[in-house]
Amino acid sequence: MKKIIVILCMVYLSANSLQTGKEVFRAYCWGCHHQSAVAFGPSFKFIATNRTTAQIKGHIIAPKSMYEILGYKRSVMPSFADVLNDKELEYITDFILKQKDK
Ligand code: HEC
Repeated sequence: MKKIIVILCMVYLSANSLQTGKEVFRAYCWGCHHQSAVAFGPSFKFIATNRTTAQIKGHIIAPKSMYEILGYKRSVMPSFADVLNDKELEYITDFILKQKDK
């Protein structure tokens, strides 16, 4: 019985975790960022072309400690540290980096 509960929990958790960078983008970023056009925030294409993987992840997790380093006067982007799990952070970072060539 315990095993069944554990399996059900795992299925439930994986069903609730977003499976691709595009899903993460649509769920959390699209309101402020677009792929190649400037929106409220910079385009993912600009970010992919100008930043390192560490800078991108750093800004998603802790924008308040990154924005000055990246040249912004103020930061309005919310932190996604408590929103995204590790996989989702990987997916969205890869998704951003892929916009470089588009
Ligand atoms: C409420 C609007 C808003 C949302 C939602 C948002 N961002 Fe941002 N983002 C911004 C703004 C504005 C900036 C410019 C700097 C700042 O405000 O911190 C920014 C900056 C960034 C940067 C650094 C930009 C640079 O110059 O390198 C990254 C990376 C980034 N956002 C990724 C994301 C990702 C990924 C998501 C979704 C998980 C997301 N943002 C959701 C508004 C937002």
